[in-house]
Amino acid sequence: MREKISDLITVMLPVLVLLLLLLSSYTKSVDLEFYLDTPEVIKSWGYPVEVHNVTTKDGFILQLHRIPYGRDSPISSLDDRPRPVIFLQHGFLCSSFDWVANLPHQSAGFVFADAGFDVWLGNFRGNTYSRKHVTLNPDKDREFWNWSWDQISEYDLPAMIGKALEVSGAESLYYTGFSMGTLTMFAKLSVDPSFSRYIKKYFALAPVGTIKHARGVFSFLGRHFGANYQEYVTKYGSDELFGSSWLFKKVVKYTCGLFDTLEELCSDITMLFVGTSSDHWNQTRVPVYLAHTPAGSSSNVMAHLDQMFSYGGTPAYDMGEEKNLKKYGQKLPPQYNFTSISDIPIHLFWSEDDWLSTKQDLQETLFTQLNPQVVQGSYQISNYNHLHFIWGTDAVDKVYKRIIDIVSVDLT
Ligand SMILES: *[C@@H]1O[C@H](CO)[C@@H](O)[C@H](O)[C@H]1NC(C)=O
Ligand SMILES: *[C@@H]1O[C@H](CO)[C@@H](O)[C@H](O)[C@H]1NC(C)=O
Ligand SMILES: *[C@@H]1O[C@H](CO)[C@@H](O)[C@H](O)[C@H]1NC(C)=O
Ligand SMILES: *[C@@H]1O[C@H](CO)[C@@H](O)[C@H](O)[C@H]1NC(C)=O
Repeated sequence: MREKISDLITVMLPVLVLLLLLLSSYTKSVDLEFYLDTPEVIKSWGYPVEVHNVTTKDGFILQLHRIPYGRDSPISSLDDRPRPVIFLQHGFLCSSFDWVANLPHQSAGFVFADAGFDVWLGNFRGNTYSRKHVTLNPDKDREFWNWSWDQISEYDLPAMIGKALEVSGAESLYYTGFSMGTLTMFAKLSVDPSFSRYIKKYFALAPVGTIKHARGVFSFLGRHFGANYQEYVTKYGSDELFGSSWLFKKVVKYTCGLFDTLEELCSDITMLFVGTSSDHWNQTRVPVYLAHTPAGSSSNVMAHLDQMFSYGGTPAYDMGEEKNLKKYGQKLPPQYNFTSISDIPIHLFWSEDDWLSTKQDLQETLFTQLNPQVVQGSYQISNYNHLHFIWGTDAVDKVYKRIIDIVSVDLT
């Protein structure tokens, strides 16, 4: 009971504070990036940017953002060799913005471009930039939202990676995924091990195989409302989840951006979701981070994550016996099994202080299932929460520069 009450306070307090602050009318000026989309942010820092669209086999039109070269000059330290292509893939409810969220010397997208890479930023179906389909209308057709991360893994990854290879002319690329950008890639590689021919090296930031041991607000919600939520989604069908028109953005704008002290508060609230310690990110930019996040997904994905949290393992989306039989030919959804992943060098970046990609889950699943021959590196980063891997101001030293060093071995 006591735990329940303190859990409840953990959730309700920030909500109440946010609502109270909504009533205030004074607005402090916020950073320019608050109002810009990803290509505009890239341009505003003086980098070249391209937008590419690709259509998946099931008809979703996804938008890719490319930073073809660095700011100072198109000439890299890698001279006239073709630029290595690096593909950066965001996580659940996020977007390509994740990789350009900080100042240029701190953000993965810019750091890789300046190091001589041809940088591609993916956008999963249903987010701000990939809310389009050849026939379905996201605002009118519920069917547009009838998918989970199984389909992201099956259709979005090959479509986007294929496009990056086609346009750049490269035969394979370096893949860097964050959170769901890793779960979907692990799933893809386990179902179709030959997909590894397109990936030269795979860098998994805050890697996710299972989320049975997740902590923080997500696990609170999962424990107390998960079953009801799954039931609701099963009954009424999937719909858009936290899209960019959602109230949240307005709340953030009129609260977190108000006074300096509130930025700290918003930062603390965000911590409740992802893990402790805020000193690795730039508090004055929290309104900017939150203006672009959440960026939208489908409620099936949330229900699917909740199934993984409740039952453990890495099942495909559970639609109930009848539909499972039709779709999978069995009553229970099949499990992904990462033991089949082969012929791909994988480097894992993780932290004991991450509440969503926990050490226990890693030990039970990825560390156990992945063939030791594919795991070429495992880097434990101390005192990092989930979001520090993309938004940490020191992620450049702890993560991105290490990636550049690992890749540079291939280029000499
Ligand atoms: C890509 O899609 C965007 C948004 O839907 C559209 O404005 C743009 O013209 C498309 N670009 C290309 C090259 O097809
Ligand atoms: C969603 O897709 C599944 C199979 O992929 C199907 O069984 C189900 O009927 C669909 N639901 C709706 C509302 O279209
Ligand atoms: C934090 O972000 C602000 C802009 O939002 C910038 O002026 C400042 O230099 C950044 N601080 C650090 C430590 O990166
Ligand atoms: C995964 O597959 C391996 C090899 O076929 C098997 O030994 C193992 O039990 C499977 N693990 C799970 C969790 O299904």
